[in-house]
Amino acid sequence: MNLKTYKKLIAKQINQDFKSAVEIVEIPISKPAASELLIQNKFAGVNGGFDTLLCRGEVPYVNLMPPFDLGVEAVGEVIAMGENVQDFQIGDAVVTTIRGGYREYQVIDANLALKVQQATPEVLTLIPTGVSALVALEQVGEMKSNEVVLVTAAAGGTGHIAVQLAKLANNHVIGTCSSEAKAKLLRELGCDRIINYRTENLNQVLKQEYPNGINLIFECVGKDVFDTCVENLAVRGRLVVVGFISEYAKNIEQITQPRLYHQLFWKVASVRGFLMPHYQEYMVKARDRLLNLFYTDKIKVAIDPTQFNGIESIPAAVEYLLSGQNCGKVIVRF
Ligand SMILES: NC(=O)c1ccc[n+]([C@@H]2O[C@H](COP(=O)([O-])OP(=O)(O)OC[C@H]3O[C@@H](n4cnc5c(N)ncnc54)[C@H](OP(=O)(O)O)[C@@H]3O)[C@@H](O)[C@H]2O)c1
Repeated sequence: MNLKTYKKLIAKQINQDFKSAVEIVEIPISKPAASELLIQNKFAGVNGGFDTLLCRGEVPYVNLMPPFDLGVEAVGEVIAMGENVQDFQIGDAVVTTIRGGYREYQVIDANLALKVQQATPEVLTLIPTGVSALVALEQVGEMKSNEVVLVTAAAGGTGHIAVQLAKLANNHVIGTCSSEAKAKLLRELGCDRIINYRTENLNQVLKQEYPNGINLIFECVGKDVFDTCVENLAVRGRLVVVGFISEYAKNIEQITQPRLYHQLFWKVASVRGFLMPHYQEYMVKARDRLLNLFYTDKIKVAIDPTQFNGIESIPAAVEYLLSGQNCGKVIVRF
């Protein structure tokens, strides 16, 4: 191997804006130690919201001081390994989900790599994005059958997996989105009621068509979408706060309104936060189930068709995701 250095993306300073916070650095490729793999990454998944909040210093469960590595999931191929590694071979496709996925090469303990059939963007959509959808619906949302489930940002990387899992559990699934192309994807995935919020009023549709309210809400968007969702919860309804992407690139909106318990108490409804790092014990089972559903054609994976190539393209990919244009998972190719 003649390669001596590789590029990765780091946060060089805390900044409100992702592009201004980051820098590409070139560092030597190190030789894997006895129990380590050297992986050549092929694709990385883009988590524009998380990336931006990290660079703003607004992720309370990690206390990172710049410079720190960026990115999470990456998939690639093993190109070298230490002498004690037993379960891998050169050329194996592997997924990694530790912090620092925005890098061309990585050396990692073999225990932290997962062997998959092929190094494709699809597996990155399932691990860890799809895993988050599954655990949020089942563990936090207590997903049942024959209920009404609403997924916001339903055609996004996380949302389109949540839609399919809620359908597989035999629920009536409503998905929100902002374009006809996204609505088309949701129709293909079997979504029962698609609400393009640019052409229909979300609150009106929910009130008119679901007078008994929504049993389970997988909420990704925040702001007035969150308010509308809370307002339309059914008796004993559960709303899972998966994220609040409409606020990630902006200052937090200050609002004045009656306290939340006025909305929840009379309907014995609940609002529950979800963060995958606090549900790690469900990761392995959820991951295996999802891969199985995918390999047996029970769920489909949508990859956004916009091409982002190389470490240099990551700020544009983050900006693209936060602009709300993507349909399916946003991926960077190395
Ligand atoms: N809690 C966790 O552990 C966890 C794990 C993974 C992801 N998440 C969260 O899940 C959500 C989706 O993440 P993702 O990475 O899969 O992104 P994504 O859904 O692929 O992309 C974001 C989507 O959000 C929608 N959106 C609605 N209003 C928006 C606004 N004002 N600005 C930007 N986008 C808007 C857009 O779709 P429409 O315009 O069609 O609505 C856009 O395509 C995020 O809130 C993320 O933080 C949480």
